[in-house]
Amino acid sequence: MKDEITAIATATVSNVACGFDIMGFAIDKPVDKVKIRFTKKPGIKIKKIKGDNGKLPLDMRKNTLGVAVQSLANYLNFKDGLEIELYKQMPLGSGLGSSAASAVAGVFALNELLGKPLQKEDLLPFALDGEKITSGGVLHADNVAPSLYGGFVVIRSTNPLDVIRIPTPKNLFCTVIHPHIEIKTSKARKILSKQIPLKKAVLQWGNVAGLIAGLMKSDFDLISRSLQDVIIEPQRSALIPGYYDIKNSALNAGALGVNISGSGPSIFALSTSDELAKKIGVLMKKVLNKICIDSDLYISTINHKGPRII
Ligand code: HSE
Repeated sequence: MKDEITAIATATVSNVACGFDIMGFAIDKPVDKVKIRFTKKPGIKIKKIKGDNGKLPLDMRKNTLGVAVQSLANYLNFKDGLEIELYKQMPLGSGLGSSAASAVAGVFALNELLGKPLQKEDLLPFALDGEKITSGGVLHADNVAPSLYGGFVVIRSTNPLDVIRIPTPKNLFCTVIHPHIEIKTSKARKILSKQIPLKKAVLQWGNVAGLIAGLMKSDFDLISRSLQDVIIEPQRSALIPGYYDIKNSALNAGALGVNISGSGPSIFALSTSDELAKKIGVLMKKVLNKICIDSDLYISTINHKGPRII
Protein backbone atom coordinates (compact mmCIF):
# COMPACT_ATOMS: atom_id res chain seq x y z
CA MET A 1 0.00 0.00 0.00
CA LYS A 2 1.24 3.51 -0.81
CA ASP A 3 1.92 6.07 1.95
CA GLU A 4 0.84 9.03 -0.08
CA ILE A 5 -1.51 9.71 -3.00
CA THR A 6 -2.18 12.75 -5.17
CA ALA A 7 -5.46 13.09 -7.04
CA ILE A 8 -6.94 15.69 -9.35
CA ALA A 9 -10.60 16.45 -10.00
CA THR A 10 -11.91 18.66 -12.74
CA ALA A 11 -14.05 21.74 -12.99
CA THR A 12 -17.69 21.39 -14.03
CA VAL A 13 -20.34 23.37 -15.83
CA SER A 14 -23.56 22.99 -13.87
CA ASN A 15 -27.18 23.92 -14.68
CA VAL A 16 -26.33 23.79 -18.43
CA ALA A 17 -28.90 26.50 -19.25
CA CYS A 18 -32.30 24.90 -18.58
CA GLY A 19 -31.32 22.35 -15.90
CA PHE A 20 -30.98 24.42 -12.72
CA ASP A 21 -29.58 22.14 -9.97
CA ILE A 22 -30.15 18.94 -12.01
CA MET A 23 -27.59 18.89 -14.86
CA GLY A 24 -23.85 19.26 -15.18
CA PHE A 25 -20.83 18.13 -17.15
CA ALA A 26 -17.11 17.86 -16.48
CA ILE A 27 -14.48 19.74 -18.49
CA ASP A 28 -10.73 19.04 -18.77
CA LYS A 29 -9.43 22.22 -17.16
CA PRO A 30 -9.02 23.74 -14.63
CA VAL A 31 -8.44 21.06 -11.96
CA ASP A 32 -7.87 20.94 -8.20
CA LYS A 33 -5.12 18.77 -6.74
CA VAL A 34 -5.24 17.03 -3.36
CA LYS A 35 -2.40 15.13 -1.67
CA ILE A 36 -3.16 12.77 1.22
CA ARG A 37 -0.61 10.87 3.29
CA PHE A 38 -0.67 8.68 6.35
CA THR A 39 0.74 10.13 9.56
CA LYS A 40 1.71 8.43 12.82
CA LYS A 41 -0.40 10.79 14.90
CA PRO A 42 -4.12 9.86 14.83
CA GLY A 43 -6.61 12.39 13.49
CA ILE A 44 -7.08 14.10 10.12
CA LYS A 45 -5.57 17.51 9.43
CA ILE A 46 -5.38 19.89 6.50
CA LYS A 47 -1.70 20.77 6.58
CA LYS A 48 -1.58 23.36 3.83
CA ILE A 49 -3.62 25.04 1.13
CA LYS A 50 -1.99 26.76 -1.85
CA GLY A 51 -3.53 28.89 -4.58
CA ASP A 52 -6.49 30.25 -2.59
CA ASN A 53 -4.93 33.59 -1.58
CA GLY A 54 -5.44 32.62 2.04
CA LYS A 55 -9.24 32.53 1.66
CA LEU A 56 -9.95 28.92 2.63
CA PRO A 57 -9.96 27.69 6.25
CA LEU A 58 -7.57 24.96 7.41
CA ASP A 59 -10.22 23.93 9.97
CA MET A 60 -11.46 20.50 8.85
CA ARG A 61 -15.03 21.30 9.90
CA LYS A 62 -15.22 24.53 7.90
CA ASN A 63 -13.51 23.36 4.73
CA THR A 64 -15.46 21.54 1.97
CA LEU A 65 -12.56 19.17 1.39
CA GLY A 66 -12.12 18.55 5.12
CA VAL A 67 -15.80 17.79 5.71
CA ALA A 68 -15.92 15.42 2.71
CA VAL A 69 -12.76 13.50 3.70
CA GLN A 70 -13.85 13.26 7.36
CA SER A 71 -17.27 12.00 6.30
CA LEU A 72 -15.72 9.20 4.23
CA ALA A 73 -13.20 8.38 6.99
CA ASN A 74 -16.05 8.10 9.52
CA TYR A 75 -18.03 5.80 7.22
CA LEU A 76 -14.98 3.57 6.74
CA ASN A 77 -14.26 3.67 10.47
CA PHE A 78 -10.77 5.00 9.73
CA LYS A 79 -9.19 6.09 13.02
CA ASP A 80 -5.51 6.57 12.10
CA GLY A 81 -3.73 9.72 11.10
CA LEU A 82 -3.88 11.62 7.79
CA GLU A 83 -2.41 14.83 6.50
CA ILE A 84 -4.00 16.65 3.55
CA GLU A 85 -2.58 19.26 1.17
CA LEU A 86 -4.84 21.16 -1.23
CA TYR A 87 -3.49 22.85 -4.36
CA LYS A 88 -6.26 25.05 -5.75
CA GLN A 89 -5.78 25.51 -9.43
CA MET A 90 -9.21 26.92 -10.02
CA PRO A 91 -10.69 30.18 -8.89
CA LEU A 92 -13.10 30.44 -5.96
CA GLY A 93 -16.61 31.74 -6.57
CA SER A 94 -16.20 31.23 -10.31
CA GLY A 95 -19.20 29.06 -11.18
CA LEU A 96 -16.86 26.23 -12.15
CA GLY A 97 -17.54 23.98 -9.18
CA SER A 98 -14.35 24.87 -7.35
CA SER A 99 -15.39 23.53 -3.93
CA ALA A 100 -16.92 20.42 -5.52
CA ALA A 101 -13.64 19.62 -7.28
CA SER A 102 -11.71 19.83 -4.00
CA ALA A 103 -14.22 17.56 -2.25
CA VAL A 104 -14.18 15.04 -5.11
CA ALA A 105 -10.37 14.99 -5.32
CA GLY A 106 -10.25 14.48 -1.53
CA VAL A 107 -12.62 11.54 -1.26
CA PHE A 108 -11.20 9.96 -4.40
CA ALA A 109 -7.64 10.23 -3.03
CA LEU A 110 -8.58 8.78 0.37
CA ASN A 111 -10.46 5.87 -1.19
CA GLU A 112 -7.42 5.05 -3.35
CA LEU A 113 -5.01 5.45 -0.41
CA LEU A 114 -7.07 2.92 1.57
CA GLY A 115 -6.98 0.37 -1.27
CA LYS A 116 -10.31 1.25 -2.94
CA PRO A 117 -12.84 -0.04 -0.39
CA LEU A 118 -15.61 1.74 -2.36
CA GLN A 119 -16.52 2.11 -6.01
CA LYS A 120 -15.97 5.59 -7.39
CA GLU A 121 -19.72 6.29 -7.74
CA ASP A 122 -20.31 5.35 -4.09
CA LEU A 123 -18.16 8.29 -3.00
CA LEU A 124 -20.85 10.76 -4.04
CA PRO A 125 -22.65 11.19 -0.67
CA PHE A 126 -19.35 11.95 1.09
CA ALA A 127 -18.26 14.56 -1.45
CA LEU A 128 -21.76 16.05 -1.16
CA ASP A 129 -21.42 16.35 2.62
CA GLY A 130 -18.53 18.72 1.93
CA GLU A 131 -20.36 20.67 -0.76
CA LYS A 132 -23.30 21.27 1.59
CA ILE A 133 -21.33 23.80 3.63
CA THR A 134 -20.79 26.12 0.65
CA SER A 135 -24.41 26.38 -0.44
CA GLY A 136 -26.05 27.25 2.85
CA GLY A 137 -27.19 23.71 3.60
CA VAL A 138 -29.07 23.23 0.29
CA LEU A 139 -28.18 20.00 -1.39
CA HIS A 140 -27.38 20.35 -5.08
CA ALA A 141 -25.22 17.72 -6.70
CA ASP A 142 -24.82 19.30 -10.13
CA ASN A 143 -21.11 20.07 -9.63
CA VAL A 144 -20.05 17.17 -7.42
CA ALA A 145 -21.74 14.44 -9.47
CA PRO A 146 -20.24 15.34 -12.88
CA SER A 147 -16.82 15.98 -11.32
CA LEU A 148 -16.90 12.51 -9.73
CA TYR A 149 -18.58 10.53 -12.52
CA GLY A 150 -17.06 12.45 -15.45
CA GLY A 151 -19.15 13.19 -18.53
CA PHE A 152 -22.63 14.69 -18.59
CA VAL A 153 -25.02 13.77 -15.78
CA VAL A 154 -28.59 14.36 -14.72
CA ILE A 155 -29.42 14.35 -11.03
CA ARG A 156 -32.98 13.05 -11.11
CA SER A 157 -33.18 13.21 -7.32
CA THR A 158 -30.94 14.03 -4.36
CA ASN A 159 -33.13 12.17 -1.85
CA PRO A 160 -32.61 9.38 -2.59
CA LEU A 161 -29.58 10.13 -4.77
CA ASP A 162 -30.29 9.16 -8.36
CA VAL A 163 -27.67 10.19 -10.92
CA ILE A 164 -27.98 9.31 -14.59
CA ARG A 165 -25.12 9.38 -17.10
CA ILE A 166 -26.09 10.94 -20.43
CA PRO A 167 -24.03 10.03 -23.51
CA THR A 168 -22.83 13.04 -25.50
CA PRO A 169 -21.77 13.52 -29.13
CA LYS A 170 -18.02 13.18 -29.70
CA ASN A 171 -17.55 16.51 -31.40
CA LEU A 172 -19.06 18.66 -28.70
CA PHE A 173 -16.68 21.39 -27.53
CA CYS A 174 -16.97 23.74 -24.63
CA THR A 175 -15.62 27.25 -24.26
CA VAL A 176 -15.60 28.65 -20.74
CA ILE A 177 -14.71 32.22 -19.94
CA HIS A 178 -14.11 33.21 -16.35
CA PRO A 179 -14.40 36.97 -15.80
CA HIS A 180 -12.31 37.99 -12.80
CA ILE A 181 -15.15 38.88 -10.48
CA GLU A 182 -16.37 36.69 -7.63
CA ILE A 183 -19.98 35.62 -7.16
CA LYS A 184 -20.86 33.63 -4.06
CA THR A 185 -23.26 30.76 -4.84
CA SER A 186 -25.21 31.52 -1.66
CA LYS A 187 -25.78 35.12 -2.85
CA ALA A 188 -26.67 34.04 -6.40
CA ARG A 189 -29.26 31.67 -4.92
CA LYS A 190 -30.74 34.26 -2.56
CA ILE A 191 -31.71 36.61 -5.40
CA LEU A 192 -33.82 33.96 -7.14
CA SER A 193 -37.60 34.27 -7.08
CA LYS A 194 -39.29 31.37 -5.26
CA GLN A 195 -42.24 31.35 -7.70
CA ILE A 196 -42.21 30.18 -11.32
CA PRO A 197 -45.13 31.04 -13.61
CA LEU A 198 -46.57 27.86 -15.10
CA LYS A 199 -45.98 29.07 -18.68
CA LYS A 200 -42.26 29.46 -18.00
CA ALA A 201 -42.06 26.11 -16.24
CA VAL A 202 -43.57 24.43 -19.31
CA LEU A 203 -40.99 26.10 -21.58
CA GLN A 204 -38.19 25.09 -19.22
CA TRP A 205 -39.04 21.40 -18.96
CA GLY A 206 -39.58 21.27 -22.72
CA ASN A 207 -35.99 22.48 -23.09
CA VAL A 208 -34.67 20.03 -20.49
CA ALA A 209 -36.25 17.11 -22.34
CA GLY A 210 -35.08 18.50 -25.70
CA LEU A 211 -31.49 18.92 -24.51
CA ILE A 212 -31.24 15.39 -23.15
CA ALA A 213 -32.81 13.93 -26.29
CA GLY A 214 -30.51 16.08 -28.46
CA LEU A 215 -27.40 14.88 -26.61
CA MET A 216 -28.44 11.23 -26.82
CA LYS A 217 -29.30 11.46 -30.52
CA SER A 218 -26.32 13.70 -31.42
CA ASP A 219 -28.87 16.11 -32.86
CA PHE A 220 -27.02 19.44 -32.78
CA ASP A 221 -30.01 21.48 -33.95
CA LEU A 222 -32.10 20.12 -31.11
CA ILE A 223 -29.25 20.74 -28.63
CA SER A 224 -29.03 24.30 -29.89
CA ARG A 225 -32.79 24.96 -29.69
CA SER A 226 -32.90 23.53 -26.18
CA LEU A 227 -29.96 25.41 -24.65
CA GLN A 228 -32.24 28.07 -23.21
CA ASP A 229 -33.09 29.14 -19.71
CA VAL A 230 -36.21 31.26 -19.22
CA ILE A 231 -36.10 31.12 -15.42
CA ILE A 232 -32.64 31.61 -13.91
CA GLU A 233 -30.64 33.46 -16.58
CA PRO A 234 -32.94 36.53 -16.66
CA GLN A 235 -32.39 36.94 -12.92
CA ARG A 236 -28.69 36.12 -12.58
CA SER A 237 -27.39 37.77 -15.75
CA ALA A 238 -27.60 41.10 -13.92
CA LEU A 239 -24.70 39.94 -11.71
CA ILE A 240 -22.36 39.55 -14.71
CA PRO A 241 -21.21 42.76 -16.45
CA GLY A 242 -21.58 42.58 -20.24
CA TYR A 243 -23.37 39.22 -20.07
CA TYR A 244 -25.69 39.58 -23.07
CA ASP A 245 -22.96 41.17 -25.23
CA ILE A 246 -20.71 38.19 -24.46
CA LYS A 247 -23.55 35.77 -25.18
CA ASN A 248 -24.46 37.43 -28.48
CA SER A 249 -20.87 37.56 -29.69
CA ALA A 250 -20.60 33.78 -29.16
CA LEU A 251 -23.97 33.02 -30.76
CA ASN A 252 -23.15 35.21 -33.78
CA ALA A 253 -19.91 33.27 -34.22
CA GLY A 254 -21.86 30.00 -34.41
CA ALA A 255 -22.12 28.68 -30.84
CA LEU A 256 -24.90 26.11 -30.32
CA GLY A 257 -25.85 27.82 -27.10
CA VAL A 258 -24.42 30.07 -24.40
CA ASN A 259 -25.31 30.41 -20.76
CA ILE A 260 -24.09 31.02 -17.23
CA SER A 261 -21.88 28.27 -15.81
CA GLY A 262 -23.29 27.29 -12.41
CA SER A 263 -24.06 30.40 -10.41
CA GLY A 264 -21.57 32.46 -12.46
CA PRO A 265 -19.70 34.59 -13.26
CA SER A 266 -18.20 32.05 -15.70
CA ILE A 267 -20.04 31.71 -18.99
CA PHE A 268 -19.97 28.62 -21.19
CA ALA A 269 -20.63 28.11 -24.90
CA LEU A 270 -21.04 24.79 -26.69
CA SER A 271 -19.92 24.32 -30.27
CA THR A 272 -19.05 21.61 -32.76
CA SER A 273 -15.32 22.06 -33.36
CA ASP A 274 -12.16 22.90 -31.48
CA GLU A 275 -11.47 25.71 -33.94
CA LEU A 276 -14.90 27.27 -33.40
CA ALA A 277 -14.61 26.86 -29.62
CA LYS A 278 -11.33 28.82 -29.70
CA LYS A 279 -12.75 31.53 -31.96
CA ILE A 280 -15.75 31.92 -29.64
CA GLY A 281 -13.37 32.25 -26.69
CA VAL A 282 -11.43 35.06 -28.36
CA LEU A 283 -14.66 36.95 -29.12
CA MET A 284 -16.01 36.55 -25.59
CA LYS A 285 -12.73 37.80 -24.15
CA LYS A 286 -12.81 40.82 -26.46
CA VAL A 287 -16.13 41.94 -24.97
CA LEU A 288 -14.74 41.67 -21.44
CA ASN A 289 -11.53 43.48 -22.43
CA LYS A 290 -13.66 46.38 -23.68
CA ILE A 291 -15.21 46.81 -20.26
CA CYS A 292 -11.82 46.34 -18.57
CA ILE A 293 -12.52 42.97 -16.94
CA ASP A 294 -9.69 40.42 -17.05
CA SER A 295 -10.64 36.85 -17.79
CA ASP A 296 -9.36 33.31 -18.23
CA LEU A 297 -10.36 31.03 -21.07
CA TYR A 298 -10.70 27.26 -21.01
CA ILE A 299 -11.40 25.19 -24.12
CA SER A 300 -12.18 21.51 -23.78
CA THR A 301 -14.32 18.60 -24.82
CA ILE A 302 -16.62 17.00 -22.27
CA ASN A 303 -14.31 15.20 -19.83
CA HIS A 304 -15.34 11.57 -19.42
CA LYS A 305 -12.46 10.53 -17.15
CA GLY A 306 -13.45 12.16 -13.87
CA PRO A 307 -10.93 12.30 -11.02
CA ARG A 308 -7.58 10.53 -11.36
CA ILE A 309 -4.42 9.71 -9.50
CA ILE A 310 -1.33 11.52 -10.77
N1 HSE B 1 -26.96 24.74 -9.34
C1 HSE B 1 -26.18 25.59 -8.49
C2 HSE B 1 -26.66 27.01 -8.64
C3 HSE B 1 -24.75 25.44 -8.87
O1 HSE B 1 -26.84 27.44 -9.77
O2 HSE B 1 -26.85 27.69 -7.64
C4 HSE B 1 -23.80 26.31 -8.19
O3 HSE B 1 -22.53 26.24 -8.82
